[in-house]
Amino acid sequence: MNKNIQKLSIYKLFNKSKKYSIKWSSYFQVYEKIFSRYRNKKIKFVEIGVANGGSLFMWKKYFGNKAKIIGIDLNPKAKKLEKNGFKIYIGNQSDKKFWENFYKKEGKVDLILDDGGHKNLQQISTVHHSLPYIKDGGKIVIEDTGTSYVKKEFNNPSRYSFINFAKNVVDAIHRRSPLLKKELNFYSKKIFLVEFFESIVVFSIDSKKCFQNKEVHNKAQNEWAIDYRHNEYFGKLKLKLDKKYGLLNKRSFYRRIIRKIFYKNFIFNFLDNIKIKKIFRELEN
Ligand SMILES: C[S@@+](CC[C@H](N)C(=O)[O-])C[C@H]1O[C@@H](n2cnc3c(N)ncnc32)[C@H](O)[C@@H]1O
Repeated sequence: MNKNIQKLSIYKLFNKSKKYSIKWSSYFQVYEKIFSRYRNKKIKFVEIGVANGGSLFMWKKYFGNKAKIIGIDLNPKAKKLEKNGFKIYIGNQSDKKFWENFYKKEGKVDLILDDGGHKNLQQISTVHHSLPYIKDGGKIVIEDTGTSYVKKEFNNPSRYSFINFAKNVVDAIHRRSPLLKKELNFYSKKIFLVEFFESIVVFSIDSKKCFQNKEVHNKAQNEWAIDYRHNEYFGKLKLKLDKKYGLLNKRSFYRRIIRKIFYKNFIFNFLDNIKIKKIFRELEN
């Protein structure tokens, strides 16, 4: 067991929990990173996947008495943990109706952690049906996303894996950039940040921070330096030509030709891609 993990308070609480719990060792450092600021706050914390209840006891100690700890499981036996002060809901995380009923009763929550069935539909349903009900400043945390790469039981890799869904969320948050020229959707309006850890994906919700982005300048625009982005290949030649034909006259025919060659030319794109492919190969090895 890694020594740094053993020192973490969340790991100590895991070991001291009075009921059986299973977690992966690397998760404890992620928990400390993403959850520590919610300790001793009046929060609603939801965990999907109760099993024996071991993690619920850990969370109660970790977040403190002001926190309401809620468990969700498909197994009706989980209900008996209510005598220990937890609120338990019995239901299927893939079921839209379950979530509607759940949020009707509980209202908005701060944190939801999915340690349930770990299948694509289950993980994706948690995010999709919970997103409207997470308070600003809250998080949706999906565990065991390594299942997105596993064939047995999980039918992955697949176009519809949870990880591919999460990558699509990354696309959705980029809609806030005017460069994409796309309308904001519900995801782009709610999710401020997506974090990928090994086997954990975290969505941080903050609708106030999810505005359509805008370029801002702190000085007059004509003070801006020449951008050398397109000068990597034949830069000196391009600058010479630009000076001679381009910058002088905005509508210049030569300027248009030079721009076509140097800004959009497939040769430069091709040269870039040779280098990029090499880097991709190293990453995929
Ligand atoms: C890995 S265990 C949870 C372990 C627990 N969090 C702990 O650390 O002690 C997964 C649990 O998810 C529950 N589960 C599986 N599929 C589910 C579903 N579709 N909806 C709700 N719960 C589900 C299982 O019954 C099981 O108790």
